[in-house]
Amino acid sequence: MEGPFAINQRKSARYSTCMPNLFTPITIRELEIPNRIWLSPMCMYSATDGMPNDWHFAHLAQFAIRRVGFLMTEASGISPTGRSTLMDTGIWNLEQAKSWRRITDFAHSQGSKIGIQLWHAGQKGSTTSPWQGQDYVAPESGGWQAVAPSALAFGKLPAPKALDLEEIQGIINDYRHSARMALEANFDVVEIHGAHGYLIHSFLSPLSNKREDHYGGSYENRTRFVKEVVTAIREVWPASHPLFIRLSTDDWVEGGWRVGDSARLASELMALGVDLMDCSSGGVQTGVTYPVGPGYQVPFAKEIRASSQILTAAVGMITDVAEANRIIESGDADAVMLGRELLRNPNWALNALSTLHEKVGEDLATKWPNQYLNGRPKLKLGW
Ligand SMILES: Cc1cc2nc3c(=O)[nH]c(=O)nc-3n(C[C@H](O)[C@H](O)[C@H](O)COP(=O)(O)O)c2cc1C
Repeated sequence: MEGPFAINQRKSARYSTCMPNLFTPITIRELEIPNRIWLSPMCMYSATDGMPNDWHFAHLAQFAIRRVGFLMTEASGISPTGRSTLMDTGIWNLEQAKSWRRITDFAHSQGSKIGIQLWHAGQKGSTTSPWQGQDYVAPESGGWQAVAPSALAFGKLPAPKALDLEEIQGIINDYRHSARMALEANFDVVEIHGAHGYLIHSFLSPLSNKREDHYGGSYENRTRFVKEVVTAIREVWPASHPLFIRLSTDDWVEGGWRVGDSARLASELMALGVDLMDCSSGGVQTGVTYPVGPGYQVPFAKEIRASSQILTAAVGMITDVAEANRIIESGDADAVMLGRELLRNPNWALNALSTLHEKVGEDLATKWPNQYLNGRPKLKLGW
C-alpha cells in the first residue's frame, strides 16, 4: 500500500548499500544518521513539571560524545496526565521545547541525530517511580485519574477510566501539539510510543481493549486510534522528517496482539507516513512469561521488515558487538537500539569501532572525539 508519505527514502535507505554494517550511515527521508548504533528510550524519572534538566543533558550528551549515532529520549508526556509519573519529561509546552533544544543542539554538534519519544501512559499513569515501588498516586495526593480504552485494572493499579469519544479526540490533539513542540525543539525524529501496555498498545491489544464502539472489537477498530494519532502528527511533522513507532510487536499471549498483526499494521502505517518500526514486545498484561534472552526480539524485527518492507530497529538484550553487526549485515533490522548495555558501558560504540576496525576502515575507526584521542586504543593498523 503506497500513500503520499510512503516515499522512496525507505527504498534508498534499504537498498543503496550492498552490505551495511554497524557503522554504515542510513538516510531516512532527508535525515542522515551516521551509524546504526542507537540509544533506546529510557525513562529517568528526574524531571520537574516535565522539564528536561541537567541530568537529562548529561545523560544524553554522554552518548553523543561517544559516537552513538542516534539518541532517542525517554518517553515524554504529551500532556501532564499523559505521563506515568510526576517526574517524567514532557513536550507539551514551549518552555519544555526550549530546554530540549539545549540537548538537541549539543547532540547535533557531535554529529549525532536525536528523536523524542511521545507517549501517553494510559492505564499505567499516575504512579511513583520504579525505585519508589511504582505505586498508584491518587488525585488527592497530586496524581490523576488514569485512563484506558476499557476500565480493566493492570496488576496492582486501580482500574482506569474508560475514555469517551471526546477524550480520545483530545488526546489525538495533544499528540499533534506535542509534535509541533518537538519541531520547536529541533528534534530530527518523532517516535510514537505504542508499546509496553501504554495507551496506544492497550487500544491495539484485544486483551486490554474490550470497547464496543468503533475503537474496539475488530482489527480495523482497534488500530483506528493509532492511525488517527499518526495522521494528526503527520499534519504538523514535516515530510522531510522521519516518523518512527515503537510497538509491542507481540503480546506473547494466545489471543493477544501478535507479530502478524504488527506486520499488517506496519504496511498500513507506512502509507500514513511512518518510516520505521522499533520492535519491542509485551507489557499489556501482568502474569505473562517472556522468553527473555540475548536478541530475543530480533526475529520480530526481521519478520516485520521482510513482510512489510518497513525499516525496523531491533531492541532487547543486544550487547555483543559481533552479534549486533550480524543483525545489520544480515538485514534482520536496519538499526540496533541499546538500552541497559549503554548504561553499563557508555563507550560501547567507541569500543565497537575498535572491534570492527578492519571492516570499517582506519579513517573511521580512529575517529574519536579530539578531546578523547589520547584514550584511543592501539589497533593493528600501525598508528
Ligand atoms: C531504566 C529503563 C527505562 C526505560 N524507559 C523506556 C521508555 O521510556 N520508553 C520505552 O519505549 N522503553 C523504555 N525502556 C525499555 C528500553 O528502551 C529497552 O527496550 C529495554 O530495556 C530492552 O533493551 P535492553 O536489553 O537493551 O535494555 C526502559 C528500560 C529501562 C531499563
